[in-house]
Amino acid sequence: MKPIKNIGIMTSGGDSPGMNAAIRAIVRTALSLEIKSFGIMRGYQGMIEGDVHEMKTTDVSNIIHRGGTILKTARSKEFMTDEGMEKAYHQLKKNDIDALVLIGGDGTMRGAVAFFEKYNIPAMGLPGTIDNDLTGTDYTIGFDSAVNTAISAIDKIRDTAEAHDRLFLVEVMGRDAGYIALHSGLACGAEYIFIPEQKEMLDEILDSIQDDRKRKKLTNIIVVAEGDEFGGAAELSKLIESRIPTIETRVSILGHIQRGGAPTCHDRILASRLGYAAVHALVNARSQEMVGIVNQEICFTPFAQCIKLQKPLPNDMLDMIKVLAK
Ligand code: F6P
Repeated sequence: MKPIKNIGIMTSGGDSPGMNAAIRAIVRTALSLEIKSFGIMRGYQGMIEGDVHEMKTTDVSNIIHRGGTILKTARSKEFMTDEGMEKAYHQLKKNDIDALVLIGGDGTMRGAVAFFEKYNIPAMGLPGTIDNDLTGTDYTIGFDSAVNTAISAIDKIRDTAEAHDRLFLVEVMGRDAGYIALHSGLACGAEYIFIPEQKEMLDEILDSIQDDRKRKKLTNIIVVAEGDEFGGAAELSKLIESRIPTIETRVSILGHIQRGGAPTCHDRILASRLGYAAVHALVNARSQEMVGIVNQEICFTPFAQCIKLQKPLPNDMLDMIKVLAK
């Protein structure tokens, strides 16, 4: 294999706090190995359009603490076509990019699988998504920050819920994954959570809410992932009110605040370790893998496996929700 001279870096899909810390780590690790870095703007779309610029060490100054991504991001439909991928490949060649580091979630890894089936460029992926739904890493970059944002919001909601003796439904992000709901629900003492990965016994839950009311436990917090079986918190609240007409619910949808803000210490360190490891892996001739951390150790998982296997939710945490919030 030819030595790597120019690494292209891109962020793609939903942004997540810590992406900037990862970009910084990649650029500075590459420079320490006398490799140049090139930022590819707006994910795969910028790759197609050749929106590429060299990044020096000062280009990544003062970004470790910032949310969002200085490389911007997009969800490119064009990249999923043969023509789009061909254009992207030619732009990489034109810009002399001989290796890639791709930071993103499920969609980014799917794009990578499709692209590298056709084109052979050394590449490493970094798990960057608030959803924490990639196999091959215990945590994805941004998940911890998003959960902490959700927690601080839900704690505030609990104050007003308690003052009014209300049942609150708080919707968190997660179209296909319940990690944010599970972690924020457990950390905030939510009575129930609704997540895409499992069906809930609604009748049992409604009975239990009514029992709570009888024994004067009048405040209930339900954390709902946006992709739950009932279609989110607003729909679930209508259903609950129709089944228990005496109950008044309130809905709070946390939305995109979960994606912004300063990354937590955990996400800054995770992003830095993964960025550093990805560049060293490329230099050591690894390719087509996502770098993650499992049990505190750096590990590598082929792109296709990260998306194929659904990451299981910890059963003990699912059980604890039911036991601890009584
Ligand atoms: O993939 C991260 C994520 O934040 C999901 O949790 C959410 O469902 C989705 O992105 C929202 O995407 P968009 O900002 O494109 O609507």
